[in-house]
Amino acid sequence: MTDSEMFSRISSEIMALSAELKNAGQPTGGEALVEAAAKVELLSPDLQNCWGGPFNGQRGREAIAQELIDKLRFDAIIETGTYRGITTEWFAQHFTGPIESCEINRLYYLQAAHRLNGYPHVTLTLADSRDFLREKVRRLAKGSRVLFYLDAHWEEALPLVDELRIILGGQLDVVVMIDDFKVPFDDGYAFDDYGPGKALKLELLDFLKNSRVRLFFPQLPSSEETGAGRGVCVLSERLADDVAACMLLRGSDWRDWKLEELEHALAKMSALEGQMKDFVDRIGQKVEALAENVQALHAEAQSRQGEVESKLDRLLAQLVDQRAKSADIEARQDHSAAKLDQIVALAEEWRELLRVLVEEAAEPQQDETERALVEERTKNLELQRQVQRLEERCAWSGGSSDLAAAESSLASAHEAVQSLLQSRALGALSLLATGPRGTVLRAKKEMDRAIAALDLSKNPVVT
Ligand SMILES: C[S@@+](CC[C@H](N)C(=O)[O-])C[C@H]1O[C@@H](n2cnc3c(N)ncnc32)[C@H](O)[C@@H]1O
Repeated sequence: MTDSEMFSRISSEIMALSAELKNAGQPTGGEALVEAAAKVELLSPDLQNCWGGPFNGQRGREAIAQELIDKLRFDAIIETGTYRGITTEWFAQHFTGPIESCEINRLYYLQAAHRLNGYPHVTLTLADSRDFLREKVRRLAKGSRVLFYLDAHWEEALPLVDELRIILGGQLDVVVMIDDFKVPFDDGYAFDDYGPGKALKLELLDFLKNSRVRLFFPQLPSSEETGAGRGVCVLSERLADDVAACMLLRGSDWRDWKLEELEHALAKMSALEGQMKDFVDRIGQKVEALAENVQALHAEAQSRQGEVESKLDRLLAQLVDQRAKSADIEARQDHSAAKLDQIVALAEEWRELLRVLVEEAAEPQQDETERALVEERTKNLELQRQVQRLEERCAWSGGSSDLAAAESSLASAHEAVQSLLQSRALGALSLLATGPRGTVLRAKKEMDRAIAALDLSKNPVVT
């Protein structure tokens, strides 16, 4: 927090207490607190020299005031809105005649009184500016040359029009300086605007349109002004020619200013219209250029579309071809699958067959067959022995009548053996036809042996 902020805060708090005391019916105590707050603010050099010095720190304004003082030889200077007396002090230092200033707020009045204590030609009044002006205008002699500096506009307070009516309604020869006023055609100058109908500009002074009052504004452009850069209006009726002689001001009556302002606004509008036309022309050119671009792009897009379409056709043809090939492959695959199914079915059949053969091979009938074969062999052996014995007996009898009987017995024995062997050979054949592989091999062996044994008539059976 800066020094000035700290002093301001303390002062505000004291002023709040003062208001409370006054509201509580203690006006004397309340006023004492206002004096205390003023003393606090007087302790701050920053507060006492706020706004950059006299005339809001504006050198251009200061020069105008000096020129007016120098050229018009005023009898008195009257200010409304003393505040801390900063500008009042400047007047006190640059004008030797009587200076009167009024302030409505006691907090500021006390500070200004302190500051201007050493200037005996300065009189301060604590009052509303309107009452103060009425009294001054009435008291001053007719034809007195007075410079009024009107600066009592503050927050919502705007006594300006009343002040002007009072001043201009008197019989004084006056020059009035109004602070914070809009300078026509120079928007760089700031001005006070308290809402509709309360802005400090030409319209506020339209009650002067049929008067002979002339209004003056700074020659200095706002760009060359210093400090707060606020505008000023200087007006005068009877001393207007003298004011017009000031180099730093340019003047005209209200109507001329209004007309000039309107012409200026019109010129601005025309310039704007010209700019708008240029803008529209430029936009038109851009639109045309864009349209050309769009056309070119359209043409390019069309040619590309042709290319893309032919590519698409080629791709489609390839796709159709590919699809046909795929169908062919699928058909072949189906065919192969059918063949495979057949082979699998065949394999299944063979496996089933094999299973049956294995089962049959395991069946005990084979053992039985073998046992039957052994029995048959035994029988065969027995028969062979009988045959042998008969042959021996025949050889021993030496050709007796028993011999014929013996030979016939022998022959019948032969037949018996042969039929036996034939039946064994057939059995082996049947095994060959139905048995599993092991059985088949064994059956084949049996069959070979049976076939070999079939020659028994020529070769005696030996097992
Ligand atoms: C902008 S200041 C004045 C600044 C001062 N002239 C200077 O240049 O340093 C406005 C002052 O006018 C005072 N004021 C506002 N309304 C007023 C009124 N009706 N009568 C007198 N003073 C008033 C305010 O209290 C405030 O101090």
